[in-house]
Amino acid sequence: NMRNELNRLVNTVSDPTTKKAFDTEMQSFFYLFTRYLAERAESRELEWDRIKSPAADKIVPYENLPKSTDAESLNKLAVLKVNGGLGTSMGMTGAKSALEVKNDMTFLDLTVRQIEHLNTTHRVDVPLILMTSFNTHEDTLRIIKKYANQQLRITTFNQSRYPRIFKESLLPCPKGADDDKGKWYPPGHGDLYNALVHSGVLDQLLAEGKEYLFVSNSDNLGAVVDQRILQHMIDTDAEFIMEVTDKTKADVKGGTLIDYDGTVQLLEVAQVPSEHIEDFKSVRKFKIFNTNNIWINLRALKRIMENEGMELEIIVNPKTNDDGQAVIQLETAAGAAIKHFRNARGVNVPRTRFLPVKSCSDLLLIKSDIYSLEHGQLVINENRMFGTTPVIKLGDHFKKIAQFQKRFKKIPKIIELDHLTVTGDVYFGRNVTLRGTVIIVANEGQRIDIPDGCVLENRLLSGNLTM
Ligand code: UTP
Repeated sequence: NMRNELNRLVNTVSDPTTKKAFDTEMQSFFYLFTRYLAERAESRELEWDRIKSPAADKIVPYENLPKSTDAESLNKLAVLKVNGGLGTSMGMTGAKSALEVKNDMTFLDLTVRQIEHLNTTHRVDVPLILMTSFNTHEDTLRIIKKYANQQLRITTFNQSRYPRIFKESLLPCPKGADDDKGKWYPPGHGDLYNALVHSGVLDQLLAEGKEYLFVSNSDNLGAVVDQRILQHMIDTDAEFIMEVTDKTKADVKGGTLIDYDGTVQLLEVAQVPSEHIEDFKSVRKFKIFNTNNIWINLRALKRIMENEGMELEIIVNPKTNDDGQAVIQLETAAGAAIKHFRNARGVNVPRTRFLPVKSCSDLLLIKSDIYSLEHGQLVINENRMFGTTPVIKLGDHFKKIAQFQKRFKKIPKIIELDHLTVTGDVYFGRNVTLRGTVIIVANEGQRIDIPDGCVLENRLLSGNLTM
């Protein structure tokens, strides 16, 4: 059984200190696993009819927040980026945050610029904290090394490493503590709370007089510190604020806030019974979604961790091992913590605060002349009409980052582009300009090369047929 298997894993470690830490980690995993078994047995699904939209005062429009803020409060703030994910959907094997996104700077470099700017503008000392995983730790350290002698304080800590389990037998995949990386996983950003406690970072922050923590995904370039939200948190004693934003038809993935028996809760697609999935995706019933920009009162966090503990809904993530075997990963989401905090609420923020890179199409947009950088922050080019962004759909040939890099010799100029669709084996030369609606389709067995200096305006290119 699982208990024995985990003990066996622990006994493969010889160094006593390492062994102790590993044992603690396996105990946390065992606790999660036991909950999973129990929940499976009683099939604890949400009762759909009890799900309601949150009351109006639980989701505050950003425009209603105070305009006057006290810069002094920033000294009580720390910023944390969850940085343990790999960006597997973009074919990455290292930290996604180590990807160069703009002007030779990585996500991490841009975050550092943003916080340095905040600190110098307001003469405050907001530290940056990075939660890494065994998958991303080295990449992260390599990038932040160059900031070692700068003013900004950067702290890193590792989240947990749990064993993947076989779907059929429910036994752990790794045979020893140092078995292949592919047999382990970081258990989602909900692991943040445990990891903050176990690493000692929570106590360290409190000892420094920090009271608030602003958490966001490391690939969300729109997640800059917002003083109005911080001020609202202080003024209203809200222990937890989740930034949500209006859903569009394209946003089918993110979780939403609901009222369940009177408490505000996060509802993730993984918790939705299959017959209600379409309902969940609709923008009518669920108008907003979680940006994963989260504000946490640190003393409240400490209280919860010491008293009731931070149980979060388990998300079962099915995967396939390198050798083709079906495995599962038990994960949790940071936003699910909302139900444990007092006076928690959502703030409905403008879409500009949610600017993630989830695909190479997103990456093309961000790298392009549509955006420029100001102190690490992306701003829409003033020459762009109406301040909207073009719709970009790159096909499967551009799915992986390595392919993307090979297929664009240089990022095309797209300031006047409305819509781009590219399918098949297509390559772009240097100094290409795309305007209006451009559709490029290379059929099976064909390759299309867009030559250097080419200007395409309202064009459909398909094979060697052009019109
Ligand atoms: P996601 O899992 O939504 O996005 O993580 P991703 O990193 O693009 O992953 P893929 O492409 O689905 O593999 C959102 C944020 O949470 C962090 C990620 O680093 C990202 O910033 N994260 C995710 C963690 O810190 N730990 C985890 O275990 C998982």
